[in-house]
Amino acid sequence: MNKLFYGDNLIIMRNMSAESIDLIYLDPPFNSNRNYNLLYKNTTGLPIPEQIEAFCDTWEPDYEKSETAADIPNIMRNYGIQNDAVQFWYYLTLALKSTNPKLLAYLVYMTVRLIEMYRILKQSGSMYLHCDPNASHYLKIIMDSIFSEKNFKNELIWSYHRWPAKAKRFQRMHDIILYYTKTEEFTFNQLYQEPTESSKKRWAGKTQRVTFDGHGKRLPTIEEESDSPGVPMNDVWRIPIIAPSSKERLGYPTQKPLALLERIIKASTQENDVVFDPFCGCGTTIEASIKNNRQWIGCDIAIHSIKLIQNMRIQKYGLNEPVDYEIEGIPQSVEQARYLFEQDPFQFQYWAVERTGGFCSNKKTADKGIDGRLYFETGKTLCNMVLSVKGGSIKPADIRDLRGVLEREQGTELAGFICLKEPTKAMIQEADAAGFYAYQGIKYPRIQMLTVQDIFKGKTWRCPSAVKTARKDKGQAHFAL
Ligand SMILES: C[S@@+](CC[C@H](N)C(=O)[O-])C[C@H]1O[C@@H](n2cnc3c(N)ncnc32)[C@H](O)[C@@H]1O
Repeated sequence: MNKLFYGDNLIIMRNMSAESIDLIYLDPPFNSNRNYNLLYKNTTGLPIPEQIEAFCDTWEPDYEKSETAADIPNIMRNYGIQNDAVQFWYYLTLALKSTNPKLLAYLVYMTVRLIEMYRILKQSGSMYLHCDPNASHYLKIIMDSIFSEKNFKNELIWSYHRWPAKAKRFQRMHDIILYYTKTEEFTFNQLYQEPTESSKKRWAGKTQRVTFDGHGKRLPTIEEESDSPGVPMNDVWRIPIIAPSSKERLGYPTQKPLALLERIIKASTQENDVVFDPFCGCGTTIEASIKNNRQWIGCDIAIHSIKLIQNMRIQKYGLNEPVDYEIEGIPQSVEQARYLFEQDPFQFQYWAVERTGGFCSNKKTADKGIDGRLYFETGKTLCNMVLSVKGGSIKPADIRDLRGVLEREQGTELAGFICLKEPTKAMIQEADAAGFYAYQGIKYPRIQMLTVQDIFKGKTWRCPSAVKTARKDKGQAHFAL
């Protein structure tokens, strides 16, 4: 069954069956030390000043990563990975701990996931790890140790042209894709180079045989009938990046071209095989799989990625949920929302803000109590309602803080508080004390509260008509899930 998972791929993969996947393509964060922003498309003509952090690619060592690093040798042994690989990991950890702890944090994050990918890959399966020169050499060593270097097939170079950047070095115009198989018995469909004008002539049903006489003198060329399909594809792939004006571009940072994914899928799978992308972003792998009649599983930790895939990739092929595909991980009940909060408080925040029609703040850390904003128009002015989300314990001081935000923030007339727990009487009194905002003769409570239960019952904010971005989906705003 085709599936889209919202959540951390580590948790999701740990629940997947062993040896169930034919092809894994992953395009994880590259250790680029940047945060990528997704710009919301705004069809209202009014500016939406917030941007959401699409995903973060900066790495810091923390307690959880050191625990995982210490645990990796055990996981490796449990999965039957050879002892020298385990030893290697141990010494690499020791070395990087003091010399480059940020790199170690990134490699820990990657290694623990690569091991799971190895487990879920079929014996006949293939894996393509997309990376760039920042960390490809480290990742290759780790892949060699997990998959064994004898199963390394290619270092594919995805070569492209883009506008040159000012730099005192050569222009960087390629990515690296490390291609491994799990065993020697694997699916490989030979692909051929795109024919050039001269090769077309040369290969047009004929081959030319050059012969020499006994004195080394060249004889007239002999033409022979040929059934050769052309030159087998090499490991340098010249595929253009998606042009800014291209219809293919969805505005998702790091989106990869469909042609790249189609090539990988065609080379390493047969029809109906299962393709898995654990970092699926805006779903290039998913579209390439649908187009080529493969089954697919995608996973992303960012909620807007899941919605984008549904709206911009899956819908155009006429696939419907839950008949043709399933979505897992998006809360459909209070219990599931609580579970999401316990797993990842930031994703809970994102989900709650977007579920009520707001835009998330672009910072992971609390932005002075503001987790998102809902925009509405008053005449020609764009006003906003600040949103604050609390998954854990709540108290009257939270509402007092929101009153402080209302006084401090320009253009902000309303504030919304989203919580999992029922607000106390004291909190309700505190909210009531903030009074009303009046627009065109209608009064709106300046501080409003919604519990997650209210949200599931269909309650929403009371404010002048909210600005929505683009499409409506099942009666909800663009990114509301
Ligand atoms: C480089 S982008 C992938 C782009 C994708 N290949 C495309 O063509 O759109 C990496 C994606 O991984 C997601 N991601 C990062 N950490 C994740 C995790 N632990 N689990 C699932 N997804 C994750 C990010 O949200 C981001 O969408």
